Amino acid sequence: MCELCDNAGKGNRFENGKNENESCNERANTLNDEVGRILVPREKIAEKVKELGKRISNDYKDCELVLVGVLKGAFIFLADLMRELEINADMDLISVSSYADGTESTGIVRIIKDVDINIQGKHVLIVEDIVDTGLTLKHLKELFSTRGPKSVKICAIFDKPSRRKVNITIDYKGIEIPNEFVIGYGLDYQGRYRNLPDLCVLKPEIYTKK
Ligand code: IMP
Repeated sequence: MCELCDNAGKGNRFENGKNENESCNERANTLNDEVGRILVPREKIAEKVKELGKRISNDYKDCELVLVGVLKGAFIFLADLMRELEINADMDLISVSSYADGTESTGIVRIIKDVDINIQGKHVLIVEDIVDTGLTLKHLKELFSTRGPKSVKICAIFDKPSRRKVNITIDYKGIEIPNEFVIGYGLDYQGRYRNLPDLCVLKPEIYTKK
């Protein structure tokens, strides 16, 4: 049991969640057993982020640029990418959900939190963690385009092209990966594993077991 659980009494910290009887240590210790293998190591991700930052800095020189990170998955990539920019850029966040806790997109993109700033007359760059079916980005690009921006482009650190259901151009593309359910570098499975610094593969038995 972790110190906080110990102080509060076992189970108290999760009393409103699913894991009422699971202590923090029990949750944490499942990490190594459930992560299958590293697919993209952190060094390769950092190299690609640097490269994308350079390209974006070059292309948007003297432009009013707003980066819009797609929550929750893109928060780590957005933070890393912004620090690689050599130009001024504003940022905002939009929160969407299309996965309903599983590993298959529902196809219905639900906006949970919209951007706060007015994007009219600005260059918008949507920053996404991974492009899978493409439905989320198609929806977001169409949505932002109705708000009078100067341009709307897409930047995604990972791409699973074999899963695509709609045609979408990724203007700034990071790393192509095969059709496997991945976790880490912001990507989750049921709210877990976002903190892994490498992009990893979740063991299929974790999401197939019921
Ligand atoms: P799309 O609309 O199917 O392209 O899905 C995009 C969103 O699905 C991403 O922003 C992720 O949040 C999530 N997603 C897609 N593939 C994976 C994966 O392999 N692991 C975790 N999340 C994923």
